[in-house]
Amino acid sequence: MKKFTVYISRRMLAPAIPMIAKKCNVVVNEKGRPSTRKEILNGVRGKDAILCTLLDDIDAKVIDTAGTNLKVISSYSTGVDHIDVEEATKRGISVTSTGDILTETTADLTFALILAIARQITYGHETVMHKRWKYGWDPYLMLGSDVHGKVLGILGLGKIGSAVARRAKGFDMDIIYHNRHDRNIRTEEQVGAKYVSLEELVQRSDFLSLHCPLNNENHHIINRSIFKIMKRSTYLINTARGDLVNEPHLIEALRKKWIAGAGLDVFEKEPPSYNNKLLKMKNVVLLPHIGSATLSTRTKMSEIAAKNILNVLNGKTPIYLTNPQIHQR
Ligand code: DGY
Repeated sequence: MKKFTVYISRRMLAPAIPMIAKKCNVVVNEKGRPSTRKEILNGVRGKDAILCTLLDDIDAKVIDTAGTNLKVISSYSTGVDHIDVEEATKRGISVTSTGDILTETTADLTFALILAIARQITYGHETVMHKRWKYGWDPYLMLGSDVHGKVLGILGLGKIGSAVARRAKGFDMDIIYHNRHDRNIRTEEQVGAKYVSLEELVQRSDFLSLHCPLNNENHHIINRSIFKIMKRSTYLINTARGDLVNEPHLIEALRKKWIAGAGLDVFEKEPPSYNNKLLKMKNVVLLPHIGSATLSTRTKMSEIAAKNILNVLNGKTPIYLTNPQIHQR
């Protein structure tokens, strides 16, 4: 292969960087933190490929700065909402992701959040650790909500939503869902999920779990008007993208007890600022965007991200191509 040059915006788990470095010249941000905007703009200039993470805003300016050599933008993530896919497509540049590889791992974490918020797991842990557990077993201590037998509402019954639904079946939950576009007949049959309107979904769910990719259509889809029609006993779970939820509206809903609580792995701004009111609330469980964070899954993601680049540079089809339309040009 001709020695192509690849910009890698951040150090990551093996094998991505050594795999790419074996075949191409690589320029890696070695600083142990995400690349700054300036570093990205300098780094991508003249490169054949970019390996980025979801923190890198790969917009039209970055794509333009990279120039006409650029053939592939590979994200070390499944979501590609940080990439201007339309602009890349116009220029015939492949945009690739890590696809389905994190599905089961993210579904595990979603269920961990459901259990943690309903049964006050983190609050209980802190109580014991901080020596605030005074009198042993107590009839009134930490009365949570059941998970089994409750209604799980899934917004976005794609791969991860379906994996969550399968887990919910083991908890004898009633599963309802809403998709903006196509129904998922396969999962409907597998787990007995019922398709409902968005309104019915949010009104009936005891746990409302978000699993849609972020796009212009669903930005802030969960907002004040939605919180107002939810049951006061409902928990919101978000392991997808922070921008699906209007965060100030969520804070209002939690403060005014329009809903019972929230389990969040993602935020509008990550990390949330120290004065974000969510950080002072009791009825939340907050995690630092770790849905895919197991050693095994992050390693597989790394391998796929590298293969996506090497395949495109070799004239082959990448494993997960977001914009197959480029081939119709
Ligand atoms: C993704 O890949 O999109 C997750 O949010 C992080 O792994």
